[in-house]
Amino acid sequence: MARRRQIFEGKAKVLFEGPEPGTLVQYFKDDASAFKNMKTGTITGKGVLNNRISEYLMTRLGDVGVPTHFMRRLNMREQLVREVEIIPVEVVVRNISAGSLAKRFGVAEGTPLPRSIVEYCYKSNELDDPMVSEEHITAFGWATPQELDEIMSLALRVNDFLSGLFLGIGIRLVDFRLEFGRLWEDDQMRIVLADEISPDSCRLWDIKTNEKMDKDRFRRDLGKVEEAYQEVARRLGILPEGGPRDMKGPEVMQ
Ligand code: TMP
Repeated sequence: MARRRQIFEGKAKVLFEGPEPGTLVQYFKDDASAFKNMKTGTITGKGVLNNRISEYLMTRLGDVGVPTHFMRRLNMREQLVREVEIIPVEVVVRNISAGSLAKRFGVAEGTPLPRSIVEYCYKSNELDDPMVSEEHITAFGWATPQELDEIMSLALRVNDFLSGLFLGIGIRLVDFRLEFGRLWEDDQMRIVLADEISPDSCRLWDIKTNEKMDKDRFRRDLGKVEEAYQEVARRLGILPEGGPRDMKGPEVMQ
């Protein structure tokens, strides 16, 4: 059988042409990278878990009215999504000081922020995703002021909803990164949540122990990386039967 046309290969995912126009297949790899690709590796079973976790979180967000590109999961490592025009801006929402914010401002990791902070980075591998302001985004035409208002409001809704959802399973949502895209339906354009939401793109700390349950375990060589991703899936109640076995080929679900 002819393999589908590959549209794009990123660090952790591959996008293929979907079965119908306007759709894409998002394939989740086990590859992990950090520090502008200076550190690379494999987290066994990550693709399977992130596919499930992102499916679950996007579905729950859809349930509360947050528009997303997610359509349905196809198999262990693939999901069907709507093709959108990606806005070249990464949106980071922070509740607790960690990572680059802790470093930039000298605020100790773990310090609760007085209010949620939204930051933007311009998506560019060549430029190392520089942080930008709303002024840059609108002046350079990456998004209009109206689109940016919508993005900010969606990002805060996602933060409120996911903070509560994770709190319910004993996890603190420290920060996370979102991507958005433009989706056209007839002549109408909507901003929708795209990409993925997973322990690759969130900082998740156990509420009791503050133990990290996300990609920082890989970035900082903390060990038990696979176990952390599995534990997030387990607490969400979506750990695949028999664990995240490394299923290389697609297994089409009926
Ligand atoms: P940072 O503290 O390194 O700026 O990261 C903030 C959040 O964004 C954290 O949850 C990890 C996530 N993130 C990504 O998903 N992709 C990236 O390339 C970076 C730098 C961060």
